[in-house]
Amino acid sequence: MRKKASREQERRFQMKIKNIPLSRPSITEKEIKQVTEVLMSGHLTTGLKVTEFEENMSNYLGKGIYSAGLNSCTAGLYLSLLACGVGEGDEVIVPTWTFAATAHVVYWTGAKPVLCDVKEDSLNLDETLLERLVTPKTKVIIPVHFAGFPCEMDSIMTLARNHNLYVIEDAAHAIGTKYKGKNIGAIGDATVFSFYATKNLACGEGGMVVSKNKKLIQQVKKTLYFGINKEAYKKHEGKGRWFYDIESMGYKFNLDNIHAAIGLSQLEKLDPMNERRRYIAHLYKDGLDKRIVLPKDSKEHLHSYHLFYIRVDKSIISRDELALKLQEKNIGSSVHFIPLHKHSFYQKRFSKQQFPVADRIHDEVLSIPMFPDMSNEDVAYVIENINGILRKAL
Ligand SMILES: Cc1ncc(COP(=O)(O)O)c(C=O)c1O
Repeated sequence: MRKKASREQERRFQMKIKNIPLSRPSITEKEIKQVTEVLMSGHLTTGLKVTEFEENMSNYLGKGIYSAGLNSCTAGLYLSLLACGVGEGDEVIVPTWTFAATAHVVYWTGAKPVLCDVKEDSLNLDETLLERLVTPKTKVIIPVHFAGFPCEMDSIMTLARNHNLYVIEDAAHAIGTKYKGKNIGAIGDATVFSFYATKNLACGEGGMVVSKNKKLIQQVKKTLYFGINKEAYKKHEGKGRWFYDIESMGYKFNLDNIHAAIGLSQLEKLDPMNERRRYIAHLYKDGLDKRIVLPKDSKEHLHSYHLFYIRVDKSIISRDELALKLQEKNIGSSVHFIPLHKHSFYQKRFSKQQFPVADRIHDEVLSIPMFPDMSNEDVAYVIENINGILRKAL
């Protein structure tokens, strides 16, 4: 199967047939050099590159921010919940429009996720619904900055403070996003980024929890590696540096030097890469058929355009047919997301709740190619094909 795919790719390449994936990481000699350095150093797992990546991330986000590198955003969300004391009997509010990670981790702690509907213009959690969802059991709200556009953080933080709740931001899509001039990462009690292969800062796998709360980050750092305190030798006189103490329950979620090395190079060029994403979004907005509903943007914020999604009225063409026709033209597309309450696991648990916005529009939304290395010619090819498909659909 694999062999066939690569031969097909080669054929397309030789015949100069366009093939535009949904996303592709920007990897250059810099990443290769950094990784080679780690490989030659002999220290492949957690070490100085991870520390350097954490420090650079803190500096990037602003004064007083602490960072803990992990092997995924999912692990970071889970450990942040634990650090906020979430457990059995608690409730955590999450949007239904998200990936499994955001809500699954709530179950891992023994607590229950409470799903919230989203706003039609941004597909972000509808903050006006939160008050009704808060109960005496609520402990945390997890806003997801969908596609890289920020949630209404002022309202969310005010409501959280009024009810004594924590805010853990799922910023898997939002590295480099700004809310009213503030970096995402400098607002909530904790913010978690993803460095998964398709993300704006791509390491293959990886994640980071950031917070202004030093104690929270120390707690995350302790639990991400078996609850081990490696500094314990300092307290135990006469012990060598080999000494450590297992102080609590913990996991094996540590980031390694190889992935951190990729992250370091990616972080250096994150802003120009995000700027390119914004320019591609501008080209799409200018060129796409005016009947297409475009994602929300705002001069107040800085969008990082992890995804560029479009909405097409079902009466013109179905989302699935459009995706198939794009595939025929070798243009990648995907669906972000099938709302959680539409999946069988969650359906059973949320059958009594209504999600009018997500229900009405979820089968109209399609993500189209968006990555910094896309040429203007590639963007024009995507626009031309989408507009052509829509014209023919009439
Ligand atoms: C909104 C959201 N949250 C969390 C995650 C999990 O990220 P990771 O794969 O780094 O665990 C993803 C992954 O795609 C995501 O889209």
